[in-house]
Amino acid sequence: MSILSGKNILLGISAGIAAYKTASLVREFIKAGANVKVIMTPASKDFVTPLTLSTLSKNPVHSSFYNEDDENAEWNNHVELGLWADYFLVAPATANTLSKMASGTCDNLLLATYLSAKCPVYFAPAMDLDMYKHPSTLNTFNTLESFGNIMIPATTGELASGLVGQGRLAEPEDIVAFIEANILKKLPLRGKKILITAGPTYEALDPVRFIGNHSSGKMGFEIAKASANLGAEVCLITGPTHQEVKHSFIEVIPVVSAEDMYNATHKYFKTVDVAILSAAVADYKPKEFSNSKIKKKDAAFILELEKTKDILASLGAIKTKQILVGFALETDNELENAKGKLKKKNLDLIVLNSLKDKGAGFKSDTNKVTIIDSKNNIKTYKLKSKAEVATDILSVITQKLNA
Ligand code: CTP
Repeated sequence: MSILSGKNILLGISAGIAAYKTASLVREFIKAGANVKVIMTPASKDFVTPLTLSTLSKNPVHSSFYNEDDENAEWNNHVELGLWADYFLVAPATANTLSKMASGTCDNLLLATYLSAKCPVYFAPAMDLDMYKHPSTLNTFNTLESFGNIMIPATTGELASGLVGQGRLAEPEDIVAFIEANILKKLPLRGKKILITAGPTYEALDPVRFIGNHSSGKMGFEIAKASANLGAEVCLITGPTHQEVKHSFIEVIPVVSAEDMYNATHKYFKTVDVAILSAAVADYKPKEFSNSKIKKKDAAFILELEKTKDILASLGAIKTKQILVGFALETDNELENAKGKLKKKNLDLIVLNSLKDKGAGFKSDTNKVTIIDSKNNIKTYKLKSKAEVATDILSVITQKLNA
């Protein structure tokens, strides 16, 4: 899955012959799973039709501040478009449009949107070779880069004029690859490996019965997604859940029992930078497993249980460079119990959730947590969605990694 999947891309097209390539560019973004909206300078409509681009992007294409053909004359809000975008790309970016961007000129929708956009801005110049190397154009490139805009350089080859040199718009697939690589490079967890456990474990009694718990796995899956979106390579070891995730940075390893989870976790732990154990691992399992289904009898059934291995504690005992994060689900003496677990299991962080808090815990989509570190720093968060809680946890971890 591309890092652009689910992202909002605003494509601004200015009037160069290379505008014909934007049809393929829109397709490449759509193929990567992005949502695309297109704005055009009025003159660029001579080179590629809005109809082509609205069909490919599945969104209306705008080129002026209001819709001329619409008798209700709806205003095209450049501020809204700018805020909608996760990334704004101007391609092809002509010398004229680039120079206006650099000077703050605002005489069309594309330029007004550029001035309103808060997201990263990429620009892919396309022009004749002498225009490209003119000191004025080079000055414009420098000015835009000084604003934090990112240039996708033109390539060298035959130009529309018939001359050969630098000035060709980069190929659509190369523009998309450039943006993907640029985003990845800047992600705070790029190059880090994170192991996450999630969900319940099932401890089999016989071929048809088990002891389990109500963990939905949601918290662990949200942590996995948030880690991957921050660029980490994730190994998600999960007990049986209904959760699903598809992300090229996440390897899902399904397990069933505490023993399976212990083995899988130990297989990966040595190579990771961070381990976050959010699974609700069974503390006990049936002492005996019956190969055939246990038949009911008249007498009461007494089940003997034995302890499972504590995965978190076992990792705390062998950890070297890893940041080890545990969870504590408590009902009484929450802070003291969580601090006790942090110390006893040799953790760097513990995420406490109290069953006394409404909306916290197993099955809900929300959680309310307190994060405690080994130096006894305590941070309490308000009730949030599990996705937001995942982001909070990862922000504490990222700070630790950078400390
Ligand atoms: N954990 C684990 N292996 C186990 C049990 C728990 O890795 N066999 C991990 C959980 O993933 C969680 C943390 O340990 O990160 C929970 O700690 P634990 O002391 O087991 O909490 P409880 O199960 O709630 O224990 P207690 O009944 O003592 O409160």
